[in-house]
Amino acid sequence: MLKKDFLWGASLSAHQTEGAYQEDGKSLSVQDTRPRSRNEIADFTVASDHYHHYREDIKLMAKMGVKAMRISIPWTRIIPTGIGAVNTQAIEHYRDVFNVMHEYHIEPMVTTYHFDLPQELQAQGGWTNRQTVNAYEQYVRVLFAEFGEQVKYWLTINEPNIMLLADKKILGFIYTHEERYKAFYNLMIAEKLAFKACHELCAQTKIGPVPNISYVYPATSDPRDVRAAEYFNAVRNWAYLDFSVRGIINPIFKNYLKKTGIELAILPEDQDLVTHNFPDFLGLNYYTSVTVEYPRVDQDRASGVSDQQSEDIYEKGFYKGLTNVNLAKNDFNWTIDPLGLQTTLEVVNDRYLLPIYITENGLGAYDELTDDHQVHDDYRIAYLQQHLQSVQQAVDAGVDVAGYLPWSALDLVSVHEGMKKRYGFIYVDRTETDLKNLARYPKDSYFWYQQVIHNNGVD
Ligand code: BG6
Repeated sequence: MLKKDFLWGASLSAHQTEGAYQEDGKSLSVQDTRPRSRNEIADFTVASDHYHHYREDIKLMAKMGVKAMRISIPWTRIIPTGIGAVNTQAIEHYRDVFNVMHEYHIEPMVTTYHFDLPQELQAQGGWTNRQTVNAYEQYVRVLFAEFGEQVKYWLTINEPNIMLLADKKILGFIYTHEERYKAFYNLMIAEKLAFKACHELCAQTKIGPVPNISYVYPATSDPRDVRAAEYFNAVRNWAYLDFSVRGIINPIFKNYLKKTGIELAILPEDQDLVTHNFPDFLGLNYYTSVTVEYPRVDQDRASGVSDQQSEDIYEKGFYKGLTNVNLAKNDFNWTIDPLGLQTTLEVVNDRYLLPIYITENGLGAYDELTDDHQVHDDYRIAYLQQHLQSVQQAVDAGVDVAGYLPWSALDLVSVHEGMKKRYGFIYVDRTETDLKNLARYPKDSYFWYQQVIHNNGVD
């Protein structure tokens, strides 16, 4: 049974929905400048035009019955130069967004940063440069001071693990191995500074990290495969949460880094910050599980790992990703593993014992709008239903899951696949190349979710 005050919601991010990419003083982020392949994202500059449709979108969310809505704020709107002057027009915009949400009794859950680093900071080394940490601290202090009264739930940095491991796909460039873990350290320090600032500036507010956590399975019971899974669990999952929640560098991760030529330690001047500032809850994004084996044949090191697409995972002597043949796949070749969500929740609970909000979970698919403006997305309903059943089983097993905010509130520009891959409860009428009229149409899943929220769960 879910708690009476279970936080039902839906999620989105700014750069995938807002558009208005150069309006009202916004500068360019790495999402605006990253090279996009031909089969990706024809017009991300408009995206779902949520920047101009937010009133309508929030109203539709309210009608669906959500109690919370996860959005992100673009750093490039608040501080266009990355560090320095604050853009008051942007402050006014988000003040109104939160006012509208409250009008409809929707709690905002706000991600401070979702893959969209200001290009100006990227040009100076981005997360490999410690200056970016200082800039982030200034930026989040502005957010907490300006919106601390309006926002009860803050999320720090969206999926730092996937951002680093799937760098090419998400950011458009490849980190060297050394750079990746320099950026890891700076991102983790930045997150600690956000915990500290939030607790200092807004006492009524709660803050948590938001990694993508997928339990990693060994391909077989061959002890080498089991060790491969242990390593990849540490590199992909626990390194991030152990830093946030326990204030340590995960020992298996540390050993992995050492064997690959990197000595990672918390700097003496950061020690106090790291061991005294912790999250109030965990935000957790889950799409599917991951399976690895011990690599029996050497190959070139992969650029990183792509989220949920196991084939790209590789590190000589440690692990190699492979497709789990026991699982069905979605239209885009991602495996579907609802039971994996239950396992992930139980393991995360076992390790960290904090309330968990599922801040992303959803199915990317080719949706079709009928002539009478309906979308019969029974496949999405099936996916969400099965995952919610897993959430409920985890809750029955004692895990404190406090909310569910699936991906996504409305159709948006997918990170990997542009507009053709849709996640939303609300259809946005545009294609990859044709902006059409951007009209909003609730899908079948919208009405299904409305009922789920009304019943406080699924059967
Ligand atoms: C998560 C991201 O990793 O995966 C989202 O936080 C993203 O921004 C989602 O949209 C799904 O990935 P994709 O590539 O299908 O959009």
